[in-house]
Amino acid sequence: MNPRSDIHERVLTATTTDALMDIYGVWSKQYDQDLTQAWGYPAPDRVVQQVQRYAGVASARILDAGCGTGLVGQLLHTAGFKTLDGLDFSAGMLLQAKQKKIYQNLLQGDMNQPLAIADGVYDVTTCAGTFTASHVKPEALHELVRVTRVGGWVVFTVRDTYWAETRFDQIILDLCQSNTVRLHELRTEQYIREEQSECKLVVLEVLAASANS
Ligand SMILES: C[S@@+](CC[C@H](N)C(=O)[O-])C[C@H]1O[C@@H](n2cnc3c(N)ncnc32)[C@H](O)[C@@H]1O
Repeated sequence: MNPRSDIHERVLTATTTDALMDIYGVWSKQYDQDLTQAWGYPAPDRVVQQVQRYAGVASARILDAGCGTGLVGQLLHTAGFKTLDGLDFSAGMLLQAKQKKIYQNLLQGDMNQPLAIADGVYDVTTCAGTFTASHVKPEALHELVRVTRVGGWVVFTVRDTYWAETRFDQIILDLCQSNTVRLHELRTEQYIREEQSECKLVVLEVLAASANS
């Protein structure tokens, strides 16, 4: 097992959201280089592949939830998706995302709270790297489904260890059994090469409007 860098250890063990945001504020300028060059981070690419596969219409309106510096948005933009909004709680990460000039709107919000977004606005909602320890709780999935239109797609990763210690499987099962979503993909994918970690990659189709908040 490779040792994690100090900053990586700190984001996974932050005890409050405020503390986590302070760490991301400091890390934001170095984040892209660490993830893409030093560590190797295939998760955004895997998410974008699924968006292309299931919702491959370039005009799709996409919310990139937990967008961070915009690694997913960058790949979506390159793949031809230009109607992109980003959402994150870290002002520092959002500033980096803004500088990429790929998002039409960047929203600051806490994904562990109800989102200030109307029901069914987006054709696709993506979320990479954000369902992980000390970050966003599994219950936030309800809000990602709510803001996605009927017939739209929610594509997200969950760090494997976080999946094991939380109840994503039960939340997804409940959403399926209530005919709110249909599960299309539940795959195990490489997450961060340097630490040899894996994630679950999930694709849900929204079948019915939900009123979560
Ligand atoms: C590992 S980064 C992933 C960013 C980007 N999606 C990527 O794949 O590079 C996790 C992101 O989650 C954001 N985040 C953590 N907790 C959050 C919360 N409660 N609400 C919204 N964003 C949050 C952080 O600010 C950070 O930008």
